[in-house]
Amino acid sequence: MKHVAIALLGCGTVGKGIVDLLEKNADLIEEQLDTKITIKRILIRNLAKYERMDLPKSIALTTEFSDIINDDDIEIVVEVMGSADFAKECIEACFKKGKSVVSANKDVIADYGIPLLKMSQEHNVDFQFEASVAGGIPIIRPMYSSLNSNRIDRIIGILNGTTNYILSNMTERGLSYEDVLQEAQDKGYAEADPTNDVSGYDAARKIAILATLGFHSAVTFRDVAVEGIERITQEDISHAEEMGYAVKLLAIATQSDDGISLSVHPAFIPKQHPLANVSGAYNAIYVRGNGVGDVMFYGQGAGAFPTASAVLSDVMNVILHTNLTITGKRGYVWHQVPLVDPSHI
Ligand code: NAP
Ligand code: HSE
Repeated sequence: MKHVAIALLGCGTVGKGIVDLLEKNADLIEEQLDTKITIKRILIRNLAKYERMDLPKSIALTTEFSDIINDDDIEIVVEVMGSADFAKECIEACFKKGKSVVSANKDVIADYGIPLLKMSQEHNVDFQFEASVAGGIPIIRPMYSSLNSNRIDRIIGILNGTTNYILSNMTERGLSYEDVLQEAQDKGYAEADPTNDVSGYDAARKIAILATLGFHSAVTFRDVAVEGIERITQEDISHAEEMGYAVKLLAIATQSDDGISLSVHPAFIPKQHPLANVSGAYNAIYVRGNGVGDVMFYGQGAGAFPTASAVLSDVMNVILHTNLTITGKRGYVWHQVPLVDPSHI
């Protein structure tokens, strides 16, 4: 059996989920790959915190990225730290050293995804990021691969688990916004700083990534009109309930002859609509293509094991060389499409 050593950058909710899922499914993974995956090193900031954690003794914890980048045994680096700039520096350094990268970090993908993909191809390594949008739901690969034959004109998603957890628990359990936000943080759904979750900017980054892939157009989260859920009160939820609606934070991307429109905002959804019944930290994404019609993706959009499922599958895909090549080799066409103010649609 072959052997591949990997390193993790980060060991929070997702990183620990990866360690645990790899241990749980090691036999199944090894059988499929004829390869044993070993986590050799993990980068963190606070050693004392992780020495108390239940991690296999074989894993070397380090606070120095140089320990990972200079270790020639390590072929694949899994970036699960969060934030954009340091993560980008680390990813670029990995490519230069011939290491493939898997990332769950929508901040870095939304800001630098296309240049990083190009750079990975220049260095002949893989770069995959299935977990960066909607946690465990396979949506990145369908958007650049399985739906390729379609002209996609609409993507509508509930793309943030934290806000969906907050809104559905305010509705179902009558709890206050603050109490449910704390629960979402305790369950590991929220970002280290939940501001981007509740303000809508996490969903904005995710819809920008999906629109970039689905519409073949490089858009960024700065092109998205964003409103979060900070001002939603229990009274708003009760009024919606009385009128037969659920309140959901929707991310919407549309493409027409006029251009592309991108927005994130709370919306009233009729109770009978499937999106109204997406509860807790679940996410859902509707995609409309001119061949396939409507397709809906549904599942857990946050949390340790769902996210680890996407990350580890990406690691396996790197080992199997089923890489994500959305430019160049596959003749992928990039359009420059005008952006349209969503309020005019
Ligand atoms: P987290 O619980 O806050 O963990 C972050 C980890 O990264 C910690 O181990 C932290 O170490 C380490 N870290 C952060 N900055 C670092 C730095 N500069 N140097 C070294 N280590 C650093 O975050 P998470 O929830 O696991 O999320 C990780 C990534 O996955 C984020 O990009 C997030 O958006 C994405 N994601 C999360 C979920 C989810 O459900 N949580 C789902 C999909 C995608 P210390 O503890 O020592 O600071
Ligand atoms: N904080 C994010 C969410 C994690 O709540 O959806 C998954 O990206």
